[in-house]
Amino acid sequence: IIENGIKKFHLNIQESHHTFFENINTKTYGIESTYLGPTLLLRQGESVEIEYKNNLPEATTMHGHGMHVPAIMDGGVHQVINPNQCWSAKYTVNQPASTCWYHPHLMGKTAEQVYMGLAGMIIVEDEESKNLNIPQTYGVDDIPVVLQDKKFDSSGQIDYSPTRMEIKRGYKANTFLVNGAIEPYFNAKTGWLRLRVLNGANARVFTISFGLFKSFYQIATDNSFLEQPIKLNSLTLSPGERAEIVVYVDRDLVLQDRNTSKSLLYIFKDESIGLVDSLPTQLTNLERLNIHDAKRVRRFVLNMRRGHMAINSKIMNKNRIDERVPVNDVEIWEIINPMHMVHNFHIHATHFEIIERNGSARNVLPSERGFKDTIYMPPRSTAKVLVKMKDYVDEVHPYMYHCHILEHEDDGMMGQFTVV
Ligand code: C2O
Ligand code: CU
Ligand code: CU
Repeated sequence: IIENGIKKFHLNIQESHHTFFENINTKTYGIESTYLGPTLLLRQGESVEIEYKNNLPEATTMHGHGMHVPAIMDGGVHQVINPNQCWSAKYTVNQPASTCWYHPHLMGKTAEQVYMGLAGMIIVEDEESKNLNIPQTYGVDDIPVVLQDKKFDSSGQIDYSPTRMEIKRGYKANTFLVNGAIEPYFNAKTGWLRLRVLNGANARVFTISFGLFKSFYQIATDNSFLEQPIKLNSLTLSPGERAEIVVYVDRDLVLQDRNTSKSLLYIFKDESIGLVDSLPTQLTNLERLNIHDAKRVRRFVLNMRRGHMAINSKIMNKNRIDERVPVNDVEIWEIINPMHMVHNFHIHATHFEIIERNGSARNVLPSERGFKDTIYMPPRSTAKVLVKMKDYVDEVHPYMYHCHILEHEDDGMMGQFTVV
């Protein structure tokens, strides 16, 4: 609804029942829905007000992951919404076209609440993206694909009960869901189909593919288009990461996870002709930061403290500000994963550019050369990213950075920074 020039959303966060399996009612959480939430379509420059009403029996928060907004509108650990209360994220959309998402961020509860079904996609459009000759008819040739895995007990109920070991390894299971459905199908027209893929799993890393002999193109990373479409056979996404891909539908296709060889989504070719038949060679020009402008280096070591997940040997404390970042300074953030396990690293409020992996710029993949907010950190790896905090100075209210393996985040692998 548009009211006084403000685009308003009223979203109920509720307990519900969803049908994952025939004849079984599974208890879930959802947003205006039985599982997950609606896709919010935003346009650069417009004023929005997203009101969340918490009808759950417990507190929650709702964070706009990938959204460049003031700290008090971020929906992080401090913007708690108690049961029967409302909270609104009000801001002017101030970022280029991208695929973002929203999900709870309550301290110690994020993993469980996301697992129960709380998450939804945010699509940001801009002038440039509207004028590109790429698929962009939502639900027809531009579709959201939220990847998750889920553990169900023998009666078909969601089972979220990680042991200490499963917290360390990340809670993984072998039922795969796309948009809350098990191996769903989509009827696509002949031609280019755009998939906005979000890894919305707590801990699983997906490597998507249509099989060895079918290539596709990646057109966007977490926070922006790539400058040119990148031809790929497979693409790895760690939790929280997004990629927009386009695939030419000339026959029936199966989107699979190459790590497990399991099917995720069936795409059935329909006889009608699609809307877009050729792709542009240039998608955008990115305004890159210059490494020579970097004023300082900050280091973030993903490690442990007293048996808990930590960053720089500190467990998350919501009353502690770990870093103060001067607005408009270019900085190098060096991320180090010295452990034998997978992590990743997400920074709120901003996008970054990956400039180095394992000590060299050559190790940065072509498919990572757009703006990102979450970076996959394989075991025993390092990376450097360039960041610049813009626009929203607030000495009091912090943003967060953390591992997006949600069990690790809840266990303490998170820190806070203010923009000063
Ligand atoms: Cu998607 Cu701080 O989170
Ligand atoms: Cu975020
Ligand atoms: Cu981690």
